[in-house]
Amino acid sequence: MSFAPDQRIPVRVLGATGAVGQRFVSLLADHPWFELRAVAASERSAGKRYGDAVRWALPGSPPSAIADLVVETVAAPSPEMLVFSALGSDIAGDIESAHARAGALVVTNASSHRMDADVPLIVPEVNPDHLGMLSKGGGILANPNCSTIGLVLALAPLHCAFVVEKLHVVTMQALSGAGMVGVGADLAMDNVVPYIPSEEEKLALEPAKILGSLVGSVIEPADITVSAQCNRVAVSDGHTECVSLSLGRDVTADEIREAWSSFRGLPQELGLPSAPVHPILVHDALDAPQPVLHRDLEGGMACSVGRLAPCPVLGWRFTCLSHNTLRGAAGGALLAAELAVARGLVS
Ligand SMILES: NC(=O)c1ccc[n+]([C@@H]2O[C@H](COP(=O)([O-])OP(=O)(O)OC[C@H]3O[C@@H](n4cnc5c(N)ncnc54)[C@H](OP(=O)(O)O)[C@@H]3O)[C@@H](O)[C@H]2O)c1
Repeated sequence: MSFAPDQRIPVRVLGATGAVGQRFVSLLADHPWFELRAVAASERSAGKRYGDAVRWALPGSPPSAIADLVVETVAAPSPEMLVFSALGSDIAGDIESAHARAGALVVTNASSHRMDADVPLIVPEVNPDHLGMLSKGGGILANPNCSTIGLVLALAPLHCAFVVEKLHVVTMQALSGAGMVGVGADLAMDNVVPYIPSEEEKLALEPAKILGSLVGSVIEPADITVSAQCNRVAVSDGHTECVSLSLGRDVTADEIREAWSSFRGLPQELGLPSAPVHPILVHDALDAPQPVLHRDLEGGMACSVGRLAPCPVLGWRFTCLSHNTLRGAAGGALLAAELAVARGLVS
């Protein structure tokens, strides 16, 4: 049941010069469904050639067709009906609302609207039905926090088969998660910073919304209690999370592994361009998953899980890893947009 639009859909990226914005630019350069027509950033960058404005941090150079685009301001009206936002949450809220009111579907990585009652928080394999909250003609679709996405991918099959009741998660989050401003060199090396502003609150709240049920036009959150402790560590890309959890019934390790490895969603069924073949990769090696070895598997769009073992406190424990700027940001947003297009929300 594969789907493809008749012609490429013009898109705009807000915050195109940042860490996530650059991932969007890189992924959109050869996207089969979307054509990157406009890039926007702050007044510091507006009016410059993209190639001159950006401090390119990915391998190689900015894609040549996009390097010549002139950077616009984020307030400029958008003729494109699909807008990706990689703006900081301090400024994203009003700007995204304005683009949505003007008729665009805004797919955002910022946290400003994530918990709004009328905004779906989408992990495409997990809660595609929540797109039912949107209709054609403008709206906001939120991508969850970068640690939430990996965690929820690992939780979804377990919640579906066995019911996740409560969990404790400790994250080890990459430096690129702090954006282009980053973590100062003096703090980044040889160090662990046990605080990331607002991160623990997001991890505590977002999974219940994503794993919740859409009843009419309202999401009833899942009854899951989350305790989160978030750390910044000296890793370039890839967020690792150590999870302990209790399930609603007794299960075996084989049942958990089978739930993970057989997990597929609508993106796989529809053959969406950014969909990984295997959304969850189960590792049996005792020292897996590791950011350097596993973050780029499936184009950076899979969640790697390993270290499954009984937990004497909560029942089971495991470690998961996902790429924070690919699955956790630009790649996840592209996949959500592809799903929205396949569902007729943009044309
Ligand atoms: N980094 C990650 O791993 C990650 C993962 C998931 C979600 N997110 C979220 O994604 C968003 C972007 O994160 P990031 O890491 O890419 O941040 P970033 O590297 O700091 O990039 C911020 C972008 O916003 C633009 N900008 C800054 N101030 C602005 C203003 N006053 N008006 C208009 N544009 C402005 C910047 O343009 P200039 O270059 O012109 O200053 C740049 O393009 C954030 O909401 C973040 O929480 C990040």
